[in-house]
Amino acid sequence: MTKKRILISMLVLLLAGWSSAATGDEDGSRLWLRLDPAATTATITGVKGTAMTELQTYWQGGPIVLKRQKGMPQDGYTIKSQGGKTVIAASGDAGLLYGAYHLLRLQQTGQPCDALDISEQPAYDLRILNHWDNPNGTVERGFAGKSIFLNPDPARMQMYGRANASIGINGTVLNNVNAKPEALSTESLLKAKGIADQLRPYGIRVYLSINFASPMRLGGLKTADPMEADVVKWWRDKVDEIYKLIPDFGGFLVKANSEGEPGPQDFGRTHADGANMLAGVLRPHKGIVMWRAFVYNPQSSDRANQACEEFMPFDGKFADNVIIQIKNGPVDFQPREPYSPLFTAMKQTAMMVEFQITQEYLGAANHLVYLAPMWREFFSFVKPSSLRAMAGVANIGDNVNWCGHHFAQANWYAFGRLAWNPSLTSGQIAEEWLAQTFFAPNDNTPQACKTQILDVMLASHEACVSYMMPLGLHHIFAGNHHYGPEPWYKPAGVRADWTPPYYHKADATGLGFDRTLKGSANVRQYPDELCRLYNDINTCPENVLTWFHHVPWDHKMKSGRIFWDELCHKYDDGVHQARHFLAVWDALQPYVDGQRFGEVQRKLRIQARDAEWWRDACLLYFQTFSKRPIPQDMEHPVHNLDEMMQFRIRISNYENPACGYTK
Ligand code: GCU
Repeated sequence: MTKKRILISMLVLLLAGWSSAATGDEDGSRLWLRLDPAATTATITGVKGTAMTELQTYWQGGPIVLKRQKGMPQDGYTIKSQGGKTVIAASGDAGLLYGAYHLLRLQQTGQPCDALDISEQPAYDLRILNHWDNPNGTVERGFAGKSIFLNPDPARMQMYGRANASIGINGTVLNNVNAKPEALSTESLLKAKGIADQLRPYGIRVYLSINFASPMRLGGLKTADPMEADVVKWWRDKVDEIYKLIPDFGGFLVKANSEGEPGPQDFGRTHADGANMLAGVLRPHKGIVMWRAFVYNPQSSDRANQACEEFMPFDGKFADNVIIQIKNGPVDFQPREPYSPLFTAMKQTAMMVEFQITQEYLGAANHLVYLAPMWREFFSFVKPSSLRAMAGVANIGDNVNWCGHHFAQANWYAFGRLAWNPSLTSGQIAEEWLAQTFFAPNDNTPQACKTQILDVMLASHEACVSYMMPLGLHHIFAGNHHYGPEPWYKPAGVRADWTPPYYHKADATGLGFDRTLKGSANVRQYPDELCRLYNDINTCPENVLTWFHHVPWDHKMKSGRIFWDELCHKYDDGVHQARHFLAVWDALQPYVDGQRFGEVQRKLRIQARDAEWWRDACLLYFQTFSKRPIPQDMEHPVHNLDEMMQFRIRISNYENPACGYTK
């Protein structure tokens, strides 16, 4: 090669490097923790540990003192500016770590850090993720790749620890609630120990989901009856084995007598018998039992009634280290549900709410749906102080960007922030997340663009409800997945409560499930005032109208429209909002790195297409009952019903979903 040629190729290489740096592509793997290591190490003195390391690596300001202070609430901290220094004080390492992340957040979002007087403590001691990860690495209802725990990669585990600690999450259940007995094999426990060791520096304890029949299926006993001495001994030995490996093990999460999982009822015992037996063997180690209230069977008339029916007889009968874990709504993580009445009915039982961060029913990892407004809605009915803890079903997998959709990271973030402080507003959290994830404090993104994308996040849940299941509709998903619509799905032999017509009850008179006192009487499970409100079709909030009522097609709505026309308009509004989200994002192109811009844009296009698909399928199908025209003043369906009924989608559980239509 001649000198000239060498020079030219060097120039080409240089230019290539320069241009990729200029686009600054990001893959989302750093989540909201996008601070680069500081150029010079700050002076951090006091308590050594993870808080100190994090600050030494990332803090770009003046000296910090980390101080232990007795008598402060668990995990709480103060941050004070004193004589040119910043003093973070807490009673333990976790509090110092949370204080350190608070300070780093202020730095990253460009807040002043020189006159601080902050005092924080979490609303709940237990802020926990539930991973629905299977031993073979698949993730139930996961849309972001395989389990991060399959072959726990140290760098990934470290990032997982940092991310969780930065938002206050302090517990993680490593495996699916549909637990295999093998979750407790010595081999699995050794693996759990490895993970626990990697997460401990970040203040995160590990927990396991257990299979109630483990003494039989793993231990070879003849029974798993919780009253049998052999069974209790098996559990005690197992728990001792766990604590030898993981001294700070948190406890068990249990799905029992639910959707075919074994439980105490198989042996003629009750939920309380089962939960209390496990609580007894965990107590000496300070472990807890999170016992799920997600129970229903096809015999009973209304699935929404069943958690109360099964659990109310045991109110006050659970051991003090048992917490009943209840999904936010009475059915199953639908786009909108009223709150589960068990939360206000049980008075003498420790309860925790289970939110679903993974978007099983909200567009998987394809739709931008920011969930904080939905969770805040729950807290407008259920007092945060009436709960002991908060759990979230994780949306995390081994995808480079962790959650499958860059904006799904916001839901992980919001869950943690709300578990720390449920009174933070959705807007505050979204703004904070956007500032860390997409916009640096002094970047050149116009404020108007930032406001618009914030508004998109805040409107996204309601928009999704509108294009999927407005006005209280629920569970009208396709038979083989929970992604697209199939309100007509009712094959012979499938249990009724696993088919949409059970929930929407469309007929010539109207639409919706009659849960009034004249129907399934579900309203009676709510406090009197709400019972009256929900029971009367004229006072029932319209956003849950068909949840509680079989609404006549010509029922007069608050807008002045008849119910059928309102339903049509809601669906159409949802479609228009989804298109608007795409337009807002498109305008952000100059201000977001190319990779993340393109990936989000691709997903928003899918979302807009799906919204149309939902509208057309649902309206055309319900129209076969309502026999009324689609109102003239809205966009008419662009598909026809036959075509919609033939659509099948491909959705893979652990590849980034390639959802598309196939005929
Ligand atoms: C839903 C979900 C299941 C899950 C169950 C549960 O029904 O579709 O995959 O196992 O909830 O929460 O136990």
